[in-house]
Amino acid sequence: MSDTLPYCHAVATAGSERLDACLGGGDIPLVFSPGPHVLILGGTGEGAALARALDGRARVTSSLAGRTRRPAALAGVVRTGGFGGAAGLARYLREQHIDRLVDATHPFAARISANAREAAERAGVPRLAVERPMWRRQPGDRWICVADAAAAATALAGLPDAVFLTLGPGDLDAFTGLGGRRFVLRRIDPGPSPLPDATVVLARGPFDLSAERDLFNDYGIGTLVTRASGGAATEAKILAARECDMPVVMIRRPPPEPGPRVSSVEEAVAWALSGALSSAGSGSS
Ligand SMILES: NC(=O)c1ccc[n+]([C@@H]2O[C@H](COP(=O)([O-])OP(=O)(O)OC[C@H]3O[C@@H](n4cnc5c(N)ncnc54)[C@H](OP(=O)(O)O)[C@@H]3O)[C@@H](O)[C@H]2O)c1
Repeated sequence: MSDTLPYCHAVATAGSERLDACLGGGDIPLVFSPGPHVLILGGTGEGAALARALDGRARVTSSLAGRTRRPAALAGVVRTGGFGGAAGLARYLREQHIDRLVDATHPFAARISANAREAAERAGVPRLAVERPMWRRQPGDRWICVADAAAAATALAGLPDAVFLTLGPGDLDAFTGLGGRRFVLRRIDPGPSPLPDATVVLARGPFDLSAERDLFNDYGIGTLVTRASGGAATEAKILAARECDMPVVMIRRPPPEPGPRVSSVEEAVAWALSGALSSAGSGSS
């Protein structure tokens, strides 16, 4: 429908009522917006930047999982919480008359990305993924690349203390019971440590190089364990480790979902507004 009608969005309406309202009939209040209704699956810096860039040019709804207690403010409308799997997300896409879906989730948030692909297919909504660029390994880097958190824990044998773990909460179980190790974690929200006896540093990114150097010095960090998340916002820890020749245990990314993807917010903005990828921005599918 949104391909043949001018974009307009009826508040609290659905189906043919919305069609009537868009054509001028009925007494349903209308909110006219200058572009398509874009749903951004976010919880990332890219998602926030995309919402900011589209605000005023499209009707923007950002979706957050609800893991962070006080998420940073976002432009546009924000909804929070799971959809109930791919079927629930497909229903949401239809009911909310979403015109375009952008998956700007974290590279390790594999479940929601799989759901996004399946839901977009079911609902017939165009989908684009924003793929965060990988960090580049430099000559001399002491990276030990592993498949998962359990392999990262095994790889620590013989590596220096203290160990700075920049992982998701779901990865930390693999590090329990490694006696004699000092672990340092960084978290956004206060609360009980997800890893007994670990030192918890409360901070919200992005982190610059001098902050990471200070943290490494203050806590005597000897080894970094991280996921290959990539992107500029969290790269400073990689640069700091490089500077002091520190071993880095790096958990590989899960493979991306098939389908169109871009590596910058600018390309995602252009796609969201036009529905097409330029040949330069078509990414790999
Ligand atoms: N993984 C990380 O390290 C990391 C780091 C920074 C930010 N984040 C952000 O935190 C969120 C959760 O990450 P995760 O690794 O737990 O994801 P996940 O394992 O891929 O997703 C688990 C479930 O959480 C819900 N969910 C995830 N992202 C959502 C979103 N943006 N909006 C609504 N529901 C969402 C979905 O529930 P239903 O099936 O019920 O829909 C999904 O099936 C993601 O949005 C991600 O961008 C994650």
